[in-house]
Amino acid sequence: MSKVVELSRVVKVYGKGELAVKALKGVDLEVSEGEFLCIMGPSGSGKTTLLNIIAALDKPTSGEVKVCGLNLAKLSEEKLARFRLRNIGIVFQFHNLLPDLTALDNVALPAIIATGDIKESRKRALELLEWLGLSSGAQHKPFQLSGGERQRVAVARAIVNKPRLLLCDEPTGSLDYESKLRVLELLKRINVEKKTAVIVVTHDELVAKYSTRVLRLVDGRILESI
Ligand SMILES: Nc1ncnc2c1ncn2[C@@H]1O[C@H](COP(=O)(O)OP(=O)(O)OP(=O)(O)O)[C@@H](O)[C@H]1O
Ligand SMILES: [Mg+2]
Repeated sequence: MSKVVELSRVVKVYGKGELAVKALKGVDLEVSEGEFLCIMGPSGSGKTTLLNIIAALDKPTSGEVKVCGLNLAKLSEEKLARFRLRNIGIVFQFHNLLPDLTALDNVALPAIIATGDIKESRKRALELLEWLGLSSGAQHKPFQLSGGERQRVAVARAIVNKPRLLLCDEPTGSLDYESKLRVLELLKRINVEKKTAVIVVTHDELVAKYSTRVLRLVDGRILESI
């Protein structure tokens, strides 16, 4: 199994001097193709910091980060943005859909940016929405969708460029039980059918049931699974 994520002795310090906060204190982590990893931890334990570093949205203070075998520190900002667009899908806690675009165009947008082909990107977005059982909402704007539907559109947007890695920050945070189950089943389906490695950081014990491995992050350090 090839490694999709390799972190070695990753430290992240925010701020300087007396105000410095050590959010990650030496994290080693390997994630292979096909894994569904759940990282649980209390508020402030460093979960979002860790995801941002894997997504190359933030840089570690020290340590090495490799994604799909590439050392991210060696890439220019432009190459990094391109790499992220092609290889990493991100689902944020609060879906971050663009309010003036339809669900279809929200999903198509990353593909349009990656390929420049609007027609083909919209076709792919519609296929994906159909695959997710959301085709009837394709022409709706985010405010016309339920919270659960919006979150599923956000998942569709994250996978439209067929990423090798899907990162999710509290994807079920604001959802009722039924909607949570649908989002988690969807993530599992993507993981199994598309072989995408999935990492979910969460407080939600329910996520653990869908994952192939559970790790705990406590005070900036990874504890082995329990
Ligand atoms: N930009 C920042 N500047 C300074 N400190 C920060 C910054 N971002 C995070 N921190 C601090 O780093 C620590 C880890 O924060 P992080 O957001 O990674 O936690 P989390 O596990 O995601 O928490 P939550 O479950 O509440 O989302 C916290 O003490 C937080 O206050
Ligand atoms: Mg967080």
